Amino acid sequence: MHRLVQVLTACLAATTSAALPTTEPKIVTAAFASYLAPDNGSNSLKRGKTSSFDAYFSKQYLLNSDVGHTIDAITSNAVLKPLVTVKAGDGQTFKKVLIDTGSAIIWLGGQKAYKPGRNSHDLADFGVQYGAGGVSGRAYTDKVTIGDATVKSQIIGASNDTSGFGLVYPIDGILGLGPSGSNAGQIFSSDESTPTFVENLVAEGTIDKPVFGIYINGLDKATGKEVGHGEITFGGVDQSKFRGNIDWIPQLEPYNFHWEFNVTSLKFGNQVLVPDVAPARSDTGVLPFGLPFDAFIAVMNSVPGGDVIASGPLGGLITFPANVTQKDLPSFTMQLGKQTYSIPPAKYLIPKGAYAGLNLTVGEATYTWITSGGRGRYALGQKWLESVYTVYDMEKHRVGFAPVASIV
Ligand SMILES: *[C@@H]1O[C@H](CO)[C@@H](O)[C@H](O)[C@H]1NC(C)=O
Ligand SMILES: *[C@@H]1O[C@H](CO)[C@@H](O)[C@H](O)[C@H]1NC(C)=O
Ligand SMILES: *[C@@H]1O[C@H](CO)[C@@H](O)[C@H](O)[C@H]1NC(C)=O
Ligand SMILES: *[C@@H]1O[C@H](CO)[C@@H](O)[C@H](O)[C@H]1NC(C)=O
Ligand SMILES: *[C@@H]1O[C@H](CO)[C@@H](O)[C@H](O)[C@H]1NC(C)=O
Repeated sequence: MHRLVQVLTACLAATTSAALPTTEPKIVTAAFASYLAPDNGSNSLKRGKTSSFDAYFSKQYLLNSDVGHTIDAITSNAVLKPLVTVKAGDGQTFKKVLIDTGSAIIWLGGQKAYKPGRNSHDLADFGVQYGAGGVSGRAYTDKVTIGDATVKSQIIGASNDTSGFGLVYPIDGILGLGPSGSNAGQIFSSDESTPTFVENLVAEGTIDKPVFGIYINGLDKATGKEVGHGEITFGGVDQSKFRGNIDWIPQLEPYNFHWEFNVTSLKFGNQVLVPDVAPARSDTGVLPFGLPFDAFIAVMNSVPGGDVIASGPLGGLITFPANVTQKDLPSFTMQLGKQTYSIPPAKYLIPKGAYAGLNLTVGEATYTWITSGGRGRYALGQKWLESVYTVYDMEKHRVGFAPVASIV
């Protein structure tokens, strides 16, 4: 979560997931299904704090059959703010823990305090500053359970002070899925880093490899309701969620920083927006599709009357005149590794059904999820991830991609 620009929550219905046809020796899969349900107007976005949708998602962790048992985890989520349920401290349950590939510790207690339990050991003070907020408190080691997937000794931060977080507020905490070593200085005041949940799943033998795949399912372009199921797979990938093979490309150094990689080029329809290789960050903790600044300006200017929301919770997003519809707009085409990915208008326009919840008025403008990722950089959040299956490999320092099996 480099920047938290994000608001929506969603209702996600629990589903069960079939055993996965995988060749990975050990795998833990998190499947979820969800839909967006617009709020009736009593949402706290109007108080400037949070989204207009309520969200739940559930997911199941499945070990592959040669391991002989499954681990199920019920989690909750906002589609555009993917959340996981985390248990710690003698059965305390924290339902709205943001899944964030852009940071790498777990902290809990954002809403109701974490209370140390039988398995808790006092450790040190902690503090993390995110792009959009900050948290601090005391850190412990504790048994941490996500669904039925348990790490016996996981360092967690117990928040007693949060600030900011803008539109993702309220959250109960953050589950960091960032690269190994990227949390240095957040628990201990030195530059020492601490093992992430994924690394501990490996250390304790639950999965074999510090690898995980993420599929974020799409929202219906009209209603904003979720279509199908999303899934996180720890220890491998779920081949049913993407087309073709995973195309691995090297993680950019430093490895202990972010999940960053080179994007080869980007087009908008026939217009070459970014002819040169540029670095990109994949981040489940942010919502928009962030383009290199010059490309962002070019997209805005591609439609007469294109503009940018100047301020407020959605500040920085491109808008088009209200009469501009999906059929008037081209797809983005991204060259990434050996493959080409298409991001159609349905993926970068805010669904009309979501307007009310975002305090946007239908007929005033056509709103997009497109923003600037900075000078010469992409910041690829959830709206991009709905088109691209991603895999994160901490051991081989690489990131894998494939087109999602079907784009909503
Ligand atoms: C909105 O929903 C809440 C919770 O279901 C309910 O208490 C409230 O009365 C509803 N408000 C309106 C204006 O319908
Ligand atoms: C919601 O929209 C109204 C009308 O444009 C505006 O006055 C208000 O500030 C907006 N609230 C938020 C939280 O964006
Ligand atoms: C929060 O926790 C820190 C670290 O243990 C402590 O120094 C501070 O006094 C606590 N603040 C509150 C308000 O409890
Ligand atoms: C990323 O692109 C830059 C600029 O072309 C290049 O110098 C660098 O070697 C590339 N890194 C990787 C890991 O591909
Ligand atoms: C939208 O309306 C403007 C002003 O009337 C017009 O110039 C433009 O062509 C329209 N765009 C579309 C896509 O209909």
